[in-house]
Amino acid sequence: MTDTARTVAVLGAGTMGSGIATVMARGGQRTIVYDLDDVRVKGAVDYVHGFLDKSLALGKIGADAAALAKSRVTGTTDLADLAGADVVVEAVFEDLAVKKDLWGQLDDIVDERTLFHTNTSTLSVTAIAAGSKHPGRVVGTHYCNPAPLMKLVEVADGRHTADWAHQATLAFLSEVGKTTVVTKDRPGFILNRFLIPWENSCIDALEAGLGTKETIDAAVTGALGHPMGPFRLLDIVGLDVHWQVAMRLYEQLREPRFAPPPMVERMIAAGDLGRKTGRGFYTYDDTTLFGA
Ligand SMILES: NC(=O)c1ccc[n+]([C@@H]2O[C@H](COP(=O)([O-])OP(=O)(O)OC[C@H]3O[C@@H](n4cnc5c(N)ncnc54)[C@H](O)[C@@H]3O)[C@@H](O)[C@H]2O)c1
Repeated sequence: MTDTARTVAVLGAGTMGSGIATVMARGGQRTIVYDLDDVRVKGAVDYVHGFLDKSLALGKIGADAAALAKSRVTGTTDLADLAGADVVVEAVFEDLAVKKDLWGQLDDIVDERTLFHTNTSTLSVTAIAAGSKHPGRVVGTHYCNPAPLMKLVEVADGRHTADWAHQATLAFLSEVGKTTVVTKDRPGFILNRFLIPWENSCIDALEAGLGTKETIDAAVTGALGHPMGPFRLLDIVGLDVHWQVAMRLYEQLREPRFAPPPMVERMIAAGDLGRKTGRGFYTYDDTTLFGA
């Protein structure tokens, strides 16, 4: 452990919490994952270990660095254990009341200068920050999925975010190996404003029979240079998550291009949520690689 290591608490041990915990441990931070039950917490810690093992096997990290990063990750179901956190990254359900409630509880546990980062995709950072007595410390940090592989984080201040918190957030994200773009506290920030309608168009093209999932994915990777096509990506994100994000943007922005196509609802009804259930657009033997 380096002398400069901070303590980062990650709230939520799901898809994003597991990925963000990996980023933090690999980025030299002491990392504590918090969730409501032990099984979820253990799942996230196992995910971090699994990711580091895979990185080691691929030669992307050395044995000592992997062992050190693994030793930095712990988990808890007790909020009081987060008392020493320098930064709290919240990645719980996309539910305003749940997120606000957590900030309120943490106000009484952590130091007044602890940074509060929310990974919300569609909610207002300002509204989430209102759950804290110190909204100046709250910053929106929107990681891309899968968080350990995607370098970019969108940073959005709430109405009352303090300049010190904004600057400290940019410095912190750079320290853990992320690149940042600063955007506004608006639904979908930059990326989901065009990514969601684009993914919906790809699903519409599939439903209209313009191509198969394979040919549409191949067209996108071959012509646009994306590392993966829309259907591989949607399977990682999760069809349920896509539906929720798309619906929230549709409700707020009232533009039909954000509305999830009916095929998404049929897939959800069938339990075909993507990699995490073993079947989405494609089928998977390994449901754990990027799944919750
Ligand atoms: N999945 C994505 O592609 C993606 C990308 C960027 C941002 N996000 C955002 O990240 C957040 C998490 O999304 P996810 O996909 O990881 O969800 P997820 O459902 O995989 O995980 C959410 C976790 O939060 C936990 N949780 C719920 N209430 C809690 C509470 N009160 N205290 C502690 N833990 C609690 C759940 O038990 C679960 O483990 C959401 O705000 C989402 O909008 C998701």
